[in-house]
Order: sequence, then structure tokens, then C-alpha cells
Amino acid sequence: MTQTTEARVNVAVDNIGVAWLTLDNLRKFNAIAPPMWRTISDALTRFESDPGVRCVVLTGQGDKAFCVGADISQFEKIRSDMQASAEYERLTQSTLHQLQSFPKPTVAMIAGYCLGAGVALAAACDLRVAAVGARLGIPAAKLGIGYPYAGVKRLTDLVGPANVKRILFTGERFDAGEMLRVGLVDELVPAHELTARVQGVAAGIAANAPLTILAAKYAVETACAERGERDIAGCNARVKACIESEDHVEGRRAFMEKRVPIFRGR
Ligand code: COA
Repeated sequence: MTQTTEARVNVAVDNIGVAWLTLDNLRKFNAIAPPMWRTISDALTRFESDPGVRCVVLTGQGDKAFCVGADISQFEKIRSDMQASAEYERLTQSTLHQLQSFPKPTVAMIAGYCLGAGVALAAACDLRVAAVGARLGIPAAKLGIGYPYAGVKRLTDLVGPANVKRILFTGERFDAGEMLRVGLVDELVPAHELTARVQGVAAGIAANAPLTILAAKYAVETACAERGERDIAGCNARVKACIESEDHVEGRRAFMEKRVPIFRGR
């Protein structure tokens, strides 16, 4: 496992192809500040071209919080004027877009509080696994913050308009069990099993054929894109690449030889 800690985000890649991005701002419940957004963005850029990364897990240090949103103590500085505020919005929105359109699968591992930008980050991941007792919410209406269109669209695709309205209008913190019911959480596990469960899910994904997963993710994102922006030809090309891949041959052979396939992503 290679590991670095940059700007309070722990970046680690294990030897089975799972990269771990851990928000590490324990004293402030993993509140996220601009350098942390940049570190996430830089890490994703590196992971995209790294064949040793097949799945990314995003999580928070400790069991108190995944992330309690933007670091409010920095608001005076960040939102001091229109220009600083616009720069901050650009950074957060472009990183969320990068996370959502990241070609490889991503999993949010959620324990404790997941609030504001924490929900935005989790919603931009492909899957969300939460610990019993986790609490999720978007208190934007309690801070007078406008919630951007891209974030509303992402949430609406996940939980439908009525649930997004409930989450945004009330600003309440909802129990993870309730969020499982509406679809913001995909899987709920006992807190002491969370890490092992996510390790298992990520390892399973990382062992599967990377080109198949790439094609599947691209197709789902295409289906959710605005009508005029759907790249169906791109979806078809990715499916064709699977049919023509060495991994497809390996998958067939391994099945016939009753052994576990070893996929190389080509
Ligand atoms: N930004 C910066 N610091 C934060 C923070 C945030 N979003 N959320 C919590 N903290 C800090 C607190 O200031 C406190 O620091 P201190 O010990 O130096 O005073 C520490 O984290 C613990 O928070 P505290 O409020 O004392 O703990 P709690 O258990 O009573 O409540 C929360 C935890 C998360 C429910 C509460 O802190 C909270 O509501 N935070 C704000 C969440 C929010 O509005 N996020 C959206 C931001 S856009």
C-alpha cells in the first residue's frame, strides 16, 4: 500500500487495485476546506490513468463523521467577495463533476454525520454504504446557501423530486435507515462491519473486468445526462471494446477451466 497525507486528505492505494481517499480533519468532524477539494481532484486525475487503481473508496477519518460539509470557519475568507466566492464554487462544482464522471467505480463509505458537502460528495459517488446510526442532511437552508443545479440534479436522479425537496426544505438530519428507504444510501450495515463490508465490495469490483465496468458506468451516466448531451455512440464503442478485449477471452477461458479469471483491463 502506498500512502500520503496531503492537505488533510489521506491518499492510499492498496495492492488489489482499491484507492482510499480519506478526509482527515478529525477535530472539525472532517469538514472540508479548499485545499482538500484540490487534493481530491488531483488524486482523481492521477487515479484515472493509473491501471493499478480499479475502484476508489471515499470516506472520513474516524467514526464520528464522513464529512460535515464545508469548513464554516473559512466562510469569511472564502465568501468574502464575489470573486472569491465564485472561485470557491468553481472548485467545489468542478471536483464534484470530476468525481461523478470519473470513469472507474467509486464508493462512499459513510459513518456518523454526512452533511452538506458531505452529501454532495457521497451523491457524486456510484455507491453509498452507510453504518447504522449515520445521519445525513443538507442544512443549506439553515445557512442561507443556494444549492447548485448540478447537485440538485444528482440528488433528484437518486431519490426523486419529492425527497430532494424534503431534504432541502427541512435541512434536517435524517437517519441512514430512512435514507436507505429513499435510495440515498444503497446499503446499511452495522457500524463494526462497515470497513470490512466496503473492503469486500471494492475488492469484488476491482477483481471484475474493468472494461465492462467502464462501459456500464458510462452508459448509466449517459442515461442520466440531459437529452442533448447523450453520447450513445460512446456507449456503443465501449461495449464493442469489451467484445474485442483480451479480458473477454480470459473470462470465457476461466469459466471453461473452472478457475477465477485474471482481468487486465485490455
Ligand atoms: N465547519 C467547521 N467546523 C465544524 C463544522 C463545519 N461544517 N462542523 C463542526 N465543526 C466543528 C465545531 O465548530 C467544533 O469545533 P470546536 O470543538 O473547535 O468548537 C467541532 O467541529 C465539533 O462540533 P460540535 O458542534 O461541538 O459537535 P456536536 O456533536 O455538538 O455537533 C454537528 C456536530 C456536526 C451536528 C454540528 O457541529 C453541526 O451542525 N455542524 C455544522 C454542519 C453544517 O451546517 N454543515 C454544512 C456546512 S455548508
